[in-house]
Formats: sequence, structure tokens, C-alpha cells
Amino acid sequence: MPVVRGKRIEVLYSASTIAARNLELAKEIAARDYRDLLVISVLKGSFIFSADLVRAMHDAGMEPDVEFIMLSTYGAGTEAGEVKILRDVDSDVSDRDILLVDDILESGRTLTFARDLMLERGARSVGVAVLLDKSMRRQADTPLQPDFVGFECPDHFVVGYGMDVGHAFRELPFVGIVAGDA
Ligand code: IMP
Ligand code: MG
Repeated sequence: MPVVRGKRIEVLYSASTIAARNLELAKEIAARDYRDLLVISVLKGSFIFSADLVRAMHDAGMEPDVEFIMLSTYGAGTEAGEVKILRDVDSDVSDRDILLVDDILESGRTLTFARDLMLERGARSVGVAVLLDKSMRRQADTPLQPDFVGFECPDHFVVGYGMDVGHAFRELPFVGIVAGDA
């Protein structure tokens, strides 16, 4: 088991497993009838997934624009989730096909907020791609169905591949669970 910061990390999805899945996701996305697609990476957690997914989309023959929004959800995954825009997109999204890309879909609050924001701004369509789906955690008032899912995630707190605990572990090339002290 890898040891990082003195903790044993149980690998859930290896770098090669994720890379293979990203290629499949990119082909699924390319098979849709998207026109003038704008990918919006939801920072911070999605920075590695987005970087890999847009390159896989290139390999799948796509030419998306890429943008960023930084959101913070206070109490993500809990009932008290209030979403704030820390940094907005620069682009006009009206009449465009949008693909929101995030690391994990849990309660659905963060991505429901982002999707509704883009629809209010006149987006033609808003798709959602997530690396991990904790579907068992979805809240009744935000029952978002993702369009593209890398993996159905077990109900554990995961780190790596962009995902953090207090800004630690984002650099790991795999997704894992902190299993305890080494
Ligand atoms: P939601 O709004 O409840 O769907 O929360 C999704 C957000 O919570 C994700 O974008 C992550 O930033 C964060 N999150 C949820 N579960 C985890 C986890 O297991 N590890 C790290 N971040 C998580
Ligand atoms: Mg996030």
C-alpha cells in the first residue's frame, strides 16, 4: 500500500484504470450530438480529471472550449449545503452546449447549483460528467442524474487525483482511501 504523509493509502482506482476509463468516457461524449461544446471544469477538485478528460476528448476527435468555475459548497454531502461562486466563468454560455466536469457527485448540491446557473444564463444544454458518483448520498431535493460517470464510488471519503483532505493528497495519480497510520 502506498504511504503518503505517514498514512497508508488503499488504492481504489489506479492511474491506469482511470486513464482507460477516461478514454471510454471521451468516446461516449464524442458520440453525443454536441455543437460548439464548452467544457466547464468545476474547481478545485476536478483539475486533474478535467485535464485528462479534455485530452482524451481531443484523442476522441473533439475540439471543445475549456473554462473554469470555482465553487465552494459549505457542508458538501450534508443537508446544509450552501453553494458560493468563488470565481465565475468568463464566457457567455447562452445558446451553447455545456459540459460540467467535476470530481465527485455526492449530495448533488454543487452540480445542481452549477447546472441551474448555466440554464438560467441561457445555455442550450447542460451535461454533467463526474469521475465518481456516490449515488447513495444523493439528496431528495437535488436528485441530479449525471450524463457521464467514471465509476460508482463506494461510500467512503476518497482522496487523490485532485481530491483532498485540507488541500493534502491532491497530487496522487490514483484515487484512494486513507486507511490509517503507516
Ligand atoms: P455535493 O455537492 O454533495 O455533490 O458534493 C460534491 C463535492 O464534495 C465534490 O465536488 C467534492 O469537492 C466534495 N467531496 C464529496 N465527497 C468527497 C470525497 O470523498 N473526497 C473529497 N471530496 C469530496
Ligand atoms: Mg468539488
